[in-house]
Amino acid sequence: MQPELTGARVRLRPWTPADADAVFAACQDPGIQQWTTVPSPYTREDAVAYVSTVAPQAWDDGGAVFAVEDLATGEIAGSIGAHGMVDGVAHIGYWTAAAARGRGLTSDALRTLTRWLFDERGAARAELVVEPANTASIRVAEAAGFTAEGVLRQRLVLRGRRVDVVMYSRLPGD
Ligand SMILES: CC(C)(COP(=O)(O)OP(=O)(O)OC[C@H]1O[C@@H](n2cnc3c(N)ncnc32)[C@H](O)[C@@H]1OP(=O)(O)O)[C@@H](O)C(=O)NCCC(=O)NCCS
Repeated sequence: MQPELTGARVRLRPWTPADADAVFAACQDPGIQQWTTVPSPYTREDAVAYVSTVAPQAWDDGGAVFAVEDLATGEIAGSIGAHGMVDGVAHIGYWTAAAARGRGLTSDALRTLTRWLFDERGAARAELVVEPANTASIRVAEAAGFTAEGVLRQRLVLRGRRVDVVMYSRLPGD
């Protein structure tokens, strides 16, 4: 069963169907729609599918997608997780609701998730990709001990645009 993880500032817990409204509201944010692969426009059905189907499926596929709660308030701050694990490589993605940003919650969530992937799930490598212009996400990755490895040219399609991304990784010994 997917566990709950506690960091310094956040609690990571499995998504539940009752969270659909919070996901729907958070994902209206233009920043989340610009920088991640969430559907755009983002509908209520997308939110229901995310918490009821996509997140549980990630666990069945060897990954884990968590709701991130602010420990201080108990409110949902965002989402973080890996949608499966292939050959010990966990590929991580995250978004945080606009109102919860700038408080170190995402970097704490990323540190917490990565430690658990290494210690409890046997991951040999955690990785994530970021557009070079996404300064906030790059700061999150670096704050959580990830290292830039290089630019993957034209690797991702976001909103119909094919873009370059920087590959970041962290290994258990880093
Ligand atoms: C990227 C995102 C998750 C950051 O969330 P956050 O909770 O604000 O991040 P944190 O508070 O943990 O901040 C971590 C670092 O980033 C810095 N930071 C946060 N927002 C920033 C911004 N807009 N510009 C510059 N730096 C920023 C913080 O100052 C902090 O730096 P520090 O470690 O040197 O103190 C959030 O902005 C977001 O959801 N963006 C849209 C979706 C997205 O880009 N997802 C990632 C796709 S790769």
